[in-house]
Amino acid sequence: MDIETVLPSWDGELCSVRFDPETGAWFVIAVHSTRLGPASGGTRAMVYPSVGDAVADATRLAAAMTTKMAVAGLPMGGGKSVIALPAPRAALDGDRWRRILRFHAAKVQQLGGTYITGLDIGTSSADMDVLRETTPWAFGRSAATGGPGSGAPATALGVFAAARAAVAEAGLGDGDGGVAGLRILVQGLGAVGARVAELAAEAGAELLVADVDAERCAPAAARGVRVVPPSEVTRTRCDVLMPCATGGLIDGRVARTLPCAVVAGAANNQLADAEAALVLSRRGIIYAPDFVANAGGAIHLVGREVLGWTEDQVTQRTLQIGQTLRSVFADARTHGTTPEQAAHDLAARHLADAA
Ligand code: NAI
Ligand code: PHE
Repeated sequence: MDIETVLPSWDGELCSVRFDPETGAWFVIAVHSTRLGPASGGTRAMVYPSVGDAVADATRLAAAMTTKMAVAGLPMGGGKSVIALPAPRAALDGDRWRRILRFHAAKVQQLGGTYITGLDIGTSSADMDVLRETTPWAFGRSAATGGPGSGAPATALGVFAAARAAVAEAGLGDGDGGVAGLRILVQGLGAVGARVAELAAEAGAELLVADVDAERCAPAAARGVRVVPPSEVTRTRCDVLMPCATGGLIDGRVARTLPCAVVAGAANNQLADAEAALVLSRRGIIYAPDFVANAGGAIHLVGREVLGWTEDQVTQRTLQIGQTLRSVFADARTHGTTPEQAAHDLAARHLADAA
């Protein structure tokens, strides 16, 4: 993918792309919208096939953050940054990684608070501590430095509440969101997925897991949990598929044969194309729009750092994701549309009110 094909079709406010010859990393900051407040969204650090792919990811993810903040009723806009690494993070020595973080922090600082970053795939609270040495515009510092830490546990809680709402909508289980006895497949056992898997097991579900990193599956496998090869995730029969890895898992073609009743997960941008939502809906598969389901991390970070909420308030607000989804599903039924569209319409109403 090249930048010339990505940017002309993007409706965001700003996209900065920089290269640091010393580390060989590319830095993309995408500010999609500041209508509701400063643009916010995490920093994703990983290897991309090309800088164009990094720009495409950053711009799409930033747009999703605008919608996420609007649906969650948070006073923030949508942004995202991507660091396209020259090699996998594990292969970079400490000095090079620190230099990469410093370079990124300087770019965030130059935006003067228009964009506030935070954690995402490939970055941690310890990394936010490093960014904060250069810029105040980073959410999710470690507790040791007085910050609120990672939002991953809150994200997992919200995703699980979303799955329960979707299960009830599908008429599965006890009809009230109970998942006991249901077969739940969690894809990606990282910061969020590992906790989601625990919640599913604690609730009595039959758990299946998949991760490209076999070590992440080892503890579950040792407890007798079935491990599914990553390439088989979209072909494995289950009641609830929970994508908690990277985005783009389900396109229209995959949606036509997906053998599950519910899709509800943490990954941003799970649907790879517009057709996917339509096909899922036509097949009666209940899809919990990702930007609604995974708002717990944003609620945690913005709640703690901007709104001064306690942990308890964050938890209560995160659990409301289940209620929000129930009304999204009801709207979709009333208007004969997909939950994805109904949730986008809800975000558009919030954005229009703000204007
Ligand atoms: P993470 O980097 O801690 O975990 C991702 C996991 O997915 C890793 O274990 C990785 O090995 C695995 N993985 C990657 N590709 C895979 C594949 N093709 N098949 C199976 N496993 C694969 O990331 P984290 O923080 O758990 O986030 C997961 C997803 O949720 C990401 O898409 C992120 O953007 C999204 N998200 C995270 C939030 C948070 O609070 N951390 C908030 C909202 C969304
Ligand atoms: N990256 C996470 C998300 O996609 C958490 C996050 C939210 C980071 C808001 C920064 C700001 O929701």
